[in-house]
Amino acid sequence: MGKIILTGDRPTGKLHLGHYVGSLRRRVELQKQGDYDRMFIFIADVQALTDNAENPEKIRQSIMEVALDYLSVGLSPEKVTFFIQSQIPELAELTQYLMNLVTVSRLQRNPTVKTEIKMRNFDANIPVGFFCYPVSQAADITLFKATTVPTGEDQKPMIEQTRELVRSFNRIYGEVLVEPNILLPENQVCMRLPGTDGKAKMSKSLGNCIYLSDDKKEVERKVKSMYTDPQHLNVEDPGHVEGNCVFTYLDAFCKPEDFAEFLPDYSCLQEMKEHYMRGGLGDMKCKKLLMKVLEKELAPIRERRQQYEKDIPEVLNILKRGTADAREFAQQTMDEVRRAMRINYFDDKEWLQQQAEKFYKD
Ligand code: TRP
Repeated sequence: MGKIILTGDRPTGKLHLGHYVGSLRRRVELQKQGDYDRMFIFIADVQALTDNAENPEKIRQSIMEVALDYLSVGLSPEKVTFFIQSQIPELAELTQYLMNLVTVSRLQRNPTVKTEIKMRNFDANIPVGFFCYPVSQAADITLFKATTVPTGEDQKPMIEQTRELVRSFNRIYGEVLVEPNILLPENQVCMRLPGTDGKAKMSKSLGNCIYLSDDKKEVERKVKSMYTDPQHLNVEDPGHVEGNCVFTYLDAFCKPEDFAEFLPDYSCLQEMKEHYMRGGLGDMKCKKLLMKVLEKELAPIRERRQQYEKDIPEVLNILKRGTADAREFAQQTMDEVRRAMRINYFDDKEWLQQQAEKFYKD
């Protein structure tokens, strides 16, 4: 089989610019290139529940938000199979078998899980389901025989663990599963977009996000209050571009042709940065450019979103159709898995014959 792309997001809220530059934008590109046999994108509600067991309503409310975000960035149901994780019971089945192939100590070494345990103050009270989510993620990837997983750097340990599980499975039971490769964002800025407050990460809990669904006014308000260079008090002062959010965002969003359109004083971002560092360029001018650049990117997204918001039953249908398609694929892989593991008793004539002979007494 050829190239299969798969990726997903936890539905714990609406998606923001961090998701967009880190992954969504790349998915749209991949979709355009068309250089794949299938593309699966799914809403990882099972994974979201591993650390939100007591908060299912948050997850439930976020399903539609995430689906709308997907569709509004331009991912198309014609090209992408969208599905909801919890509606594919085969995922739970495969997870169960993969769990036998990994040790507790190996899971404890997963750096992403380690960080998350600290962040969530789980200490000694780690839910078992949460602890095992990398195995469940390996099932997500392998059940769909994904060859390519476009995702952020923080997911590297998950893909590594998946590859190990595939190797174990195939060694013991035969070549059924496929080792996936990670497809990382093209550059450093896109790896992790900082929040509007300059903190390392855009995150809902920090309240420093620009959402894909924010309206123009909201985006402008957020850009106006954005963290810049605290030492750049007067326009004439030399400024720093490193750690200055406005420039980080320009790095992530600005295209060379944007200058001709919005700010012909400069021919490129580098020239503008040099002026800022020399002194004589005010924050507001930079922010104005960023507003325009963002608006250019967000306006069509907002428009598409409005269209889909008018027809939520159709969005549900897209999810339903995608989930049915995904389930068909999943059942095929699961048949292969059961056959390889020799637990397909009801279809295994050889086994029946053998048992009959074993127990037959003349
Ligand atoms: N862990 C991913 C996240 O937190 C979501 C996810 C679940 C995922 N299963 C996946 C991503 C499989 C890629 C492939 O964003």
